[in-house]
Amino acid sequence: MNVEQEKGFFTEENSVEVVTSRNAAAKNERLKFAMEVITRKLHEAVKEIEPTQDEWFEAILFLTNTGHMCNEWRQEFILLSDVLGVSMLVDAINNRKPSGASESTVLGPFHVANAPELPMGANICLDHKGEDMVISGRILDTDGRPVADAVIDVWQANDEGFYDVQQKGIQPDFNLRGVFRTGADGRYWFRAVKPKFYPIPDDGPVGKMLRALGRHPYRPAHLHYIIKADGFESLTTHIFDPHDPYINSDAVFGVKESLLAEFRTVDDPARAKELGFSGWFWEVEHDFVLARQAA
Ligand code: BEZ
Ligand code: FE
Repeated sequence: MNVEQEKGFFTEENSVEVVTSRNAAAKNERLKFAMEVITRKLHEAVKEIEPTQDEWFEAILFLTNTGHMCNEWRQEFILLSDVLGVSMLVDAINNRKPSGASESTVLGPFHVANAPELPMGANICLDHKGEDMVISGRILDTDGRPVADAVIDVWQANDEGFYDVQQKGIQPDFNLRGVFRTGADGRYWFRAVKPKFYPIPDDGPVGKMLRALGRHPYRPAHLHYIIKADGFESLTTHIFDPHDPYINSDAVFGVKESLLAEFRTVDDPARAKELGFSGWFWEVEHDFVLARQAA
């Protein structure tokens, strides 16, 4: 950019134009567009809030602490995006589904790649701690036809609200995780235990922010799924217990009406025996509908 194109000196009134005009020579149009929008909205927020110097420094320190909290296992910026509702917004924008397809929700930080592929019906609860549960359903296309060879990667918290990776040495590795592959009928089933609600990691700046805002850090009980099949969009989703105390106030806004499953108790000694359970158990049936990939 040559000097004549510059918008002049910075004032409170022309702040957006002065800053964005500096980006006129940016080669990446998408970056230029994003920075124009961000600058406009950020300046608008600052003008409305009118922070004191101390308040602005507190905001800078918050972001600094958020960065310092990040390491190989902890991504505090993603957590911040989650509690601000931005993760769900980005997910919604990128996963607009055709009518009838199952809805997506957040991935979360507790997925582990390369969980063991298990035979259909396997019990993913390796320490048998908690209330027994059997989960079943079908993987279908939007015309209601079964999807064969769909790969279902499932993971969940235990009956105390902890994932195996949060309790190394307490829970066995790969506890409450498994990968299942459907046959021609598109059916899946496996055994587990009923998960419990749990707090998102709240020992960092995001937890501190939630407390300052009078917000709790809890996610309602859920099972996570990533479902993949050739020719279909991959689906990252959950099913939730609709009776969970936090079902209407998920800390990361991941609950959708269509993801509520029915968790019912079954008291049937013959079925319990067949399933290898010793008494009453929970039963959940839920079908997932995959969207075909665009041609
Ligand atoms: C989870 O469900 O595993 C999760 C999602 C977002 C933030 C923290 C945890
Ligand atoms: Fe989770």
